[in-house]
Amino acid sequence: MKILVTGAAGFIGSHVVARLLQEGHEVTGVDNFDICYSRGQKEKNLMPVLLHPQFKLVEDNLADMALVKVVKGTEAIVHLAAQPGVRGSWGSSFHRYVTHNIQVTQRLLEESKANKLKRFVYASSSSVYGDIAPQEGQDIAILNEEMMCKPRSPYGVTKLAAENLVQLYHQEYKMPTVSLRFFSVYGPGQRPDMAFNRFCHNLLHDAAHTIYGDGKQVRDFTYVDDVVEAIAASVTSEAAVGQVVNVGGGSPCTLLEAVTMLEEISGKTCPKTFLERQKGDLFSIRADTAKLERVFGTKPKTPLKEGLQRQWEWMRKFVQAEDEEQAIKAQVQPITGVDEAVLAEAKADEKAHKKAARKAKKNLGKEVPGGLD
Ligand code: NAD
Ligand code: UGA
Repeated sequence: MKILVTGAAGFIGSHVVARLLQEGHEVTGVDNFDICYSRGQKEKNLMPVLLHPQFKLVEDNLADMALVKVVKGTEAIVHLAAQPGVRGSWGSSFHRYVTHNIQVTQRLLEESKANKLKRFVYASSSSVYGDIAPQEGQDIAILNEEMMCKPRSPYGVTKLAAENLVQLYHQEYKMPTVSLRFFSVYGPGQRPDMAFNRFCHNLLHDAAHTIYGDGKQVRDFTYVDDVVEAIAASVTSEAAVGQVVNVGGGSPCTLLEAVTMLEEISGKTCPKTFLERQKGDLFSIRADTAKLERVFGTKPKTPLKEGLQRQWEWMRKFVQAEDEEQAIKAQVQPITGVDEAVLAEAKADEKAHKKAARKAKKNLGKEVPGGLD
């Protein structure tokens, strides 16, 4: 199949591209290498697939590019491009969330109408739910797709708005859409603003962990390969069409338990600084994955410890390479104390030299007046 992956250079996108190529698909990736984190990390994400003969990368902004360039002839779209991050979505950066999450999704849906797509897969988020109280007999809320969504962060509001748009295009235009609600994804290539990436950094640099709230918030951490599995299945599954499906990791734990696990894996510890709970941060949640199993016949299988081990190994290499690059940059001495008069003299000298060379070239081959004796 010819598949378009938006946000291809990002954390989840780069894993998806690799998997779809492995399955023999022809993949076009679009990414604008958004400034929300380093271009260097995104380029490294794409390194393993960049020269694959079935892969094409288009560097452009989906918010204003001519989408026909990438949508025409495409059979499926996996739409991952977004402005992610819960805690940064308040205040003056909100317009970025509106543009990259809502408007880009609407543009893509409009462009897709005419293209008889076989599938439009949208990356939704557990953030659309908001805080839902645990039901009787539950310690923490187990979120299922039938529950009423009341997001508590501006980010969640934009992800839900886009998810609603996706559903509208399914209803009104029979677009074969699938919305997958991912729960806190982790693994190699994780975004630098996310908890595990920051904790690994701290362990590698002997810095203190910042814990928002009391650290007892439960997350249904999901290993990136399990997310990729669900995305790959969505591209071909007929049963998934028109559905909204949770993709949760199946091994929920508190943040502090996850920190302890990382410390065991790394053999290191760090002091912890507790700060107040961040606005928009969900309390404890876990995913009901019954629908995921029903629709795709699979469920996430990577235990947290195994996934964390793989992220740690990746982080060690990534951070070491980053530190080496910084050290080389620091060794480059800026040129200082140049004497302006000496510089001007050298320039004048060079100019005169060039002039003489030009004159000599011009006279070359000219007969000497008067000829030879
Ligand atoms: P990411 O930031 O690593 O990847 C997103 C990519 O999209 C980036 O490379 C960025 O440059 C690109 N992009 C953004 N706006 C663009 C535009 N206008 N044009 C072209 N490219 C653009 O984020 P991620 O963590 O890989 O998340 C991928 C998707 O999954 C997002 O939609 C996010 O909301 C969703 N999601 C992520 C998680 C998670 O835990 N990582 C959880 C739930 C949902
Ligand atoms: C993540 C992603 O960032 C969102 O893009 C995504 O939509 C969301 O998952 C989701 O599942 O919908 P989040 O759950 O906040 O959001 O994931 P992390 O950034 O990994 O944070 C997990 C928890 O650790 C949060 O409670 C956060 O406040 C906390 N945290 C994070 C810290 O205590 N310290 C830190 O340094 C970083």
